[in-house]
This record gives sequence, structure tokens and C-alpha cells, in this order.
Amino acid sequence: MSQQHLQQLRQLMAYEASRNAPPADFPRLPPLPSARYTDAAFHALEQDILFRKTWLLAAHLDEIPEPGCFQRWDIAGAPVVLVHADNGDIHALINRCSHRGAPVAMDERGKRKRLTCPYHGWSYSHEGELLAVRESRDFAALDTEALSLQRLRCERLGKLIFVNFDPQAVNLRESLGALVEEWAEFDLDNCRLSRRDRFSVRCNWKIAMEANLEVYHVPSIHGKTVSPVLDARRNVNSFYPGGHSRMVAPIPEGHAQPAWTSRWPDIPTAGDIARTCTQSYSVFPNLVMPLNQFVIPPIQFWPDGIDQCIVETWTMAPDWGADTDRGPDMWTEDDGARPSRVLREDIDMSEAIQAALDPRSNRGIPLSYQEARIYHWHQSADAVVGAAQIPEGLRVQPVLEDAWLHPNEPRLRGPG
Ligand code: FES
Ligand SMILES: [Fe+2]
Repeated sequence: MSQQHLQQLRQLMAYEASRNAPPADFPRLPPLPSARYTDAAFHALEQDILFRKTWLLAAHLDEIPEPGCFQRWDIAGAPVVLVHADNGDIHALINRCSHRGAPVAMDERGKRKRLTCPYHGWSYSHEGELLAVRESRDFAALDTEALSLQRLRCERLGKLIFVNFDPQAVNLRESLGALVEEWAEFDLDNCRLSRRDRFSVRCNWKIAMEANLEVYHVPSIHGKTVSPVLDARRNVNSFYPGGHSRMVAPIPEGHAQPAWTSRWPDIPTAGDIARTCTQSYSVFPNLVMPLNQFVIPPIQFWPDGIDQCIVETWTMAPDWGADTDRGPDMWTEDDGARPSRVLREDIDMSEAIQAALDPRSNRGIPLSYQEARIYHWHQSADAVVGAAQIPEGLRVQPVLEDAWLHPNEPRLRGPG
């Protein structure tokens, strides 16, 4: 992060602590239609468009470290297999044989020279080309070129592997925009994967995700856990193009580092904000990316029907030494048996909200300035899905204008 950016964030923290109202020209946020959490048509649009046109974190390179390694990835609602090719590229292939549709990879992960379909033995290269057909004499004029496995867009940022189902999508780095440079200090090329876990949660996926898009709730439900290390009154929200956003709040002065951190190596290039603040990015559409000098612990939110979701938690960290040693674990207790206390505090509340939802209600949800990252997310979702596709009563108005998107910073203009 540049000195200028750092200084700007410090000024903004002071500004946020001193203000008595939202910034004068901050738009009034219209209430969010509550049916966006319950409506079947809206859910279908999320599945068919939102998750088919955006970059989704799918794996860490440590999970498929060598040529020939593969890993299945079905959580995005389509059968995908990620394959590490001989030249080092990672490919995302639809895991469906071009013959009669059997999965070419049945195991969750493994290592193979070729992907050979277990049904009738057709085999494919790591790039998905059809290489051999058993008893090919029985097929008349098979066009093998047209029978490759379907290949999806697959790009990496450091060791993080992202997939996009849309062949026309802009590339990953362009889609992340300023985040690429802002994350450079975290050395994603060298972060090691320590854990990856999944927890089923009984609520719409956005309810669970939105607990990570504001700090307004922190003093209420994380009174003993997060609240002592996060000065919510000095929190600075920033909005980025493409639906991404960030929160940065200072750790109150004099607060000691949590004891566990001293066990782990730190990222030497991590900057001042990483070391003195809690910061977390929301990467559109379903990834929350906290970053500090010790751990990079993303959380992802996946729909599993309208009223259920899967919370996927990751812990990455700088190399912690011998392979046999356990790395850090940010999000689970008892080796993945259950989510950590902080996560449970959010999950319990999210499930309680779901249980109290009234699908017949047409009352909107009032959002404060402090919760504007949620509004920004919804506004961006409508832009991707296409407002015209969305039932009228469910649309959100795009009131957050470009003037409020990074790198613009109207809050520092001062009065007048
Ligand atoms: S379905 Fe794969 S070879 Fe027949
Ligand atoms: Fe929370």
C-alpha cells in the first residue's frame, strides 16, 4: 500500500470517529427488498447468471501441486475438475465425459497421466482433449476434436485458483482491479494452505455473507471476541468498482497481539495497516478476504437452495516449517469439528434471522451508512444480472454513484 493511501486511510479513520452524521453528500440508501432473500425467481437469477458470470475462488495450488494432480470442484453448482497440466497451467474442465456423461474424475482428488473415464475408458489429456477411444472401430467417423471436455476460464492470483463459467468474462486481474496491487504485500505466490473446511448453515447465503460486510453488529454479538480488537467507530468502508469493497478498522491502541500469533511466522512485506488494523475485503460475489501479517483466512458463501448455504473457510499463511507441523487454523475448533466461536456467533444469528423471515412481507430493510457495503453488493449484483431481468419489486436503485467508488474519496474533500 502506498504512503499516500495509508495516510488517506488514517485521515478517514479520524473522520469517521468525528462525524455526527453520514457524509453530507452520501446518498440515502433505499430500503432493500426483503424478498431478495426468499424469492425463488431471484434465487434462480443468482444461480443462472450471478454465479455464471463472475470469478469464483475454486482451489489453492497446494491442493493440486504437481502436473497430473486433479481435484473436483462441484460447489458452484456444476461438476468441475481442476487439473494441473504438464506445463504448469491449471485447467478447469467440466467433469462430464463426452461419450455418455460419466464423470471422468470420480475421486475427490488424485494424480493421473490422463483422465480416463471409468465407464467405457475414453481418455482425455490434462487440457481436456480426447486422446483415445476404446474400440474406436465401432464408432463411424468420430470427430474427436469436437469431443473435448468443456473447458472453463481458469486463472490464478498467486496460488489462488479462480474459475469463471463465462467465456467472455474480463480476465481475473482486470476484474479484481485495485485489489491486485493492494494485496501484493501479502505475497500470495508463497502463501501455504493450512486448512479448508465447509459448514452447512440454515440460512440464505447472503444473510451469512452480509455479517461480514459491516461492523455495526460487532459490539452486540461479538462483545468478547472481535469487539475488543476492533474500533468500530473508526471503521472505514471503501467501495470498489465491480462490487468489491473493503473495511479497515484500527485495533484499539495498547491492545496486545493475540497470544497465538507469536507461534507463526509473519509476512515480512505486510504493511502498516495489516499490522495495526482489522481489514477485510469483500470480493464480489461470494468471497470475504481478511488479510493481516500472520494469516490470510478467506471465507466463502455458497447457496445450497434458497434457505440453506455452505460456509467454506480457508486458512492460508506463510510457510510455517516442516510439512508434518500443523499450520494455523483461523476458523475451526477441534480440527474442523465445528466453526470457531467468532464464526458461530455470526452463524447462530444468521440462522435465527432465517427462521424469522417472512416471505410474504414487503417491508424493506433499512440500511445505514455503516452498512453501505451491503447496498453496494446488491447494486452490483443487479448490474451483473441485468436490472431488466429482475422482478420490479426486487430491484435496487443504483444510488451509489461512481463518485463514491475507489479511487474517488469524497469524504476527504472537507466542508463545502
Ligand atoms: S461415458 Fe465415458 S467412456 Fe462412456
Ligand atoms: Fe460477525
